[in-house]
Amino acid sequence: MNELIKIKMSDENASLWPDFLKSALHENERFSLVVEPERKLCDLCDYLYYREEILSFHSNELGEMSFDFEELMKYHQRQNYALSKEPLAKALAIKGSGEKRVIWDTTCGTGKDSLLISFFGAKLTSFERNPAVFLLLKDALRRFPVDFHLEFGDARTLSHSVRPEVIYYDPMYPAKKKSALARKEMRIFKEIVGDDPDSKEFLEWALKTATERVVVKRPLEADPIKEKPTASYVGKSTRYDMYKIF
Ligand SMILES: C[S@@+](CC[C@H](N)C(=O)[O-])C[C@H]1O[C@@H](n2cnc3c(N)ncnc32)[C@H](O)[C@@H]1O
Repeated sequence: MNELIKIKMSDENASLWPDFLKSALHENERFSLVVEPERKLCDLCDYLYYREEILSFHSNELGEMSFDFEELMKYHQRQNYALSKEPLAKALAIKGSGEKRVIWDTTCGTGKDSLLISFFGAKLTSFERNPAVFLLLKDALRRFPVDFHLEFGDARTLSHSVRPEVIYYDPMYPAKKKSALARKEMRIFKEIVGDDPDSKEFLEWALKTATERVVVKRPLEADPIKEKPTASYVGKSTRYDMYKIF
């Protein structure tokens, strides 16, 4: 289908929506509840666009953004990662042998970290509470299925029969200054999601919920959300603060 469908979260033309979107809306009550009448997605972006079977954010100023897991997966497959050297795998203690760890990525976002964690090997459940971001993730997973389970909402408010061994948390970090140089995709994403001001409370909840460790992703220059992580694993532009549960 090449025709462009412009989608508002409360679209009167919902009958025109592609089926996977309709079912995303109807598949659970939690999701339909947040679809308020005339909800505006963000200041820069009034509509989701669906064209050539791809769902994207659309901003008049910045253009379009969609998530593409196939390209990302091909990239990872070319890398020949050694898990013992990768800061993220080390922080999560994924060793590539034995039983897969039960991990929750509680801030799925663009799905990049979820995809990498799944590629490293884990029993992964990912959560996203922003409805527009959740729909783009659903679309990316429909076009290229990846081995993680996606849930809509905040892990704190959902009930679960098992506790995860590891909770991974990557909240939005307030930009130091408004940078015209920030990548277009980052700017669109930031505009849609805003900040995550509840990170301290979230971390306290995570430390009571994970059975083995909590890993928090931070920019290199940022302070830890909570003092004295058990260990920090440093990458090129990021740091993973790990809090072991004793
Ligand atoms: C910095 S982004 C995460 C980026 C992600 N790690 C990636 O690879 O793209 C933060 C995302 O987590 C979501 N988020 C923040 N706090 C959340 C929470 N408590 N529950 C569910 N989603 C949350 C935000 O809506 C946003 O999409």
